[in-house]
Amino acid sequence: MCGIIGYVGSGDETADILMSGLFNLEYRGYDSAGIALIEPSLTMYKKAGEVTELERSLPSDTVRGAVGIGHTRWSTHGAPSDANAHPHTDCNGDVAVVHNGIIENYQELRAELADSGHEFESETDTEVVPHLIESFLETGANPEHAFRLAIDRIDGSYAIAAVFEDTEAVYAVRKHSPLVLGLGEDGNYLASDVPAFIAHTDRVIYLEDGEFVRLTEDEVVVTNTTGDVLEKTVDTIDWDPQDAGKSGYGHYMLKEINEQPQAIRQCLQGRTSEHQQSVLLEELADLDHDGLVQLVACGTSYHAAMYGEQLLQERGMQAQSFFASEYDADRIAVDNETLVIGVTQSGETADTLSALREANRAGAATLAVTNVVGSSAARECEYVVYIRAGPEISVAATKSFVSQQITLALIASTLADVSLPRFLRALQRLPDHIQRVLDRTTTPAVASEIADSEAYFFIGRGTHVPVALEGALKMKEITYKHAEGFPSGELKHGPLALLTPNTPVIALVTNGGETATKTIGNVNEVAARDAPVIAVTDARESVEGVSDTVLEVPRTHPWLAPVLANVQLQLLSYWVATRLGRPIDKPRHLAKTVTVE
Ligand code: F6R
Repeated sequence: MCGIIGYVGSGDETADILMSGLFNLEYRGYDSAGIALIEPSLTMYKKAGEVTELERSLPSDTVRGAVGIGHTRWSTHGAPSDANAHPHTDCNGDVAVVHNGIIENYQELRAELADSGHEFESETDTEVVPHLIESFLETGANPEHAFRLAIDRIDGSYAIAAVFEDTEAVYAVRKHSPLVLGLGEDGNYLASDVPAFIAHTDRVIYLEDGEFVRLTEDEVVVTNTTGDVLEKTVDTIDWDPQDAGKSGYGHYMLKEINEQPQAIRQCLQGRTSEHQQSVLLEELADLDHDGLVQLVACGTSYHAAMYGEQLLQERGMQAQSFFASEYDADRIAVDNETLVIGVTQSGETADTLSALREANRAGAATLAVTNVVGSSAARECEYVVYIRAGPEISVAATKSFVSQQITLALIASTLADVSLPRFLRALQRLPDHIQRVLDRTTTPAVASEIADSEAYFFIGRGTHVPVALEGALKMKEITYKHAEGFPSGELKHGPLALLTPNTPVIALVTNGGETATKTIGNVNEVAARDAPVIAVTDARESVEGVSDTVLEVPRTHPWLAPVLANVQLQLLSYWVATRLGRPIDKPRHLAKTVTVE
């Protein structure tokens, strides 16, 4: 986890650039933060707590320097504290290091360095890196060479950046953790993710595993492990810098919920034929697969994967979804006849990457469904389809979930080679339908009534099951209240015992037909136990008499009804969390990108 940033420029604005970058990286972790500047002597400022705590602790006018690095942390080794905050330094205090990832052999390195007289101040795995660098500097190596020699000694996953006293450069490397370079007019940047510097430049270079960079004010030199200079492609990011700000919304989460119509338009752009007769996914033009499809993912992305599994099955394909952390290629039947799809917003989730690597080892074809261009998942897989949701900053995933659902629907149609004009026409209307839900929702008032409840239960059948699970995940994640999602038929097999007048049940009842009739039967069982019922429905009359409250969604294609229902659930969680005064964008104990297994 964690976010890192580095900058080399000409003036004294480095500290401001690092701090604003850290604020934009806080979604990667926010339990401590720090910066190091070369002024030309090395000075470090670090603090437990969110980036605002670091900002408050900075002396008002003395923070200067043209070269700097910064870090915002999500703890893996050692509790959040000033001492464990990055940057870390060596005994002499003339090298500072920030790191995202895990150094697996740190205990052995620490013991070896301690034996030769190095003293450690933190409990982190990272602190061995500046000490290793120092040990090579002492043998006469220059900073760049010492940095390379130190990296050669470490095992694990890392994006590491280092600065040295009296040296006007930042040195960095990556392996299994993201690192992107930004090429500016007045200086150059590196960071874990583009929002850290998008306000300053849209020209980027994505580093690959094993690549090193030396960043100076005028130059960015990328080399491989043997030191050969590499020609790298410069990409242009088409995000508006405003996209990475809150644009007037109180929270990123609400902004991102409201961006869903636009996210879907972006996702669909150029991917359907002119009269919505067929899907055109150029990315899969060479993929001819009609065998087993396995989907691997975590959390919200897993719920999208479940939805994808159902769509594939509906279109006549064999499909299975797995929690990525439970995917074990030795136990699960996977071979070169299998297609394994990794669904991951960030493209950096360690569990999902590990499952994809297992699938690759087993000879399967792999496909990444991700939001982040150049992410590890995109590179790990033979095929990639981007969900094009734009930057998602709030820890709670919202627009990326919808974009994953739509992308998986397009993939399912492509793989099954079916033409579904009615579905595709409904997809084109989906942004307007979502806008209608956003404009007319009554969730703020409903949230006020249920904010003090003891627990929340979400029920639905078929394609509504992944959304019921997602509704519960969102509710627990941002409100800290107990919430669970169930297939509605399962309630009577145990969970009914939990119901009281203080446990609202949110029932997803759309599409009419037998499924809705059965769910309404289950809603009756709930009402008979005096639990309040909130029905999310496209047919108000069908739930009259059995539900206390109705949240309406427009009628659409049956496969898109759960997408609309989910928007009401996102808003319900958001407004309950608001009533409870929770820190919505940064829920306790969590981080946006989970790069540990
Ligand atoms: C919940 C949430 C997480 C992520 C999960 C996977 O709101 O965001 O459950 O969905 O950590 O992350 P990605 O999609 O980046 O692989």
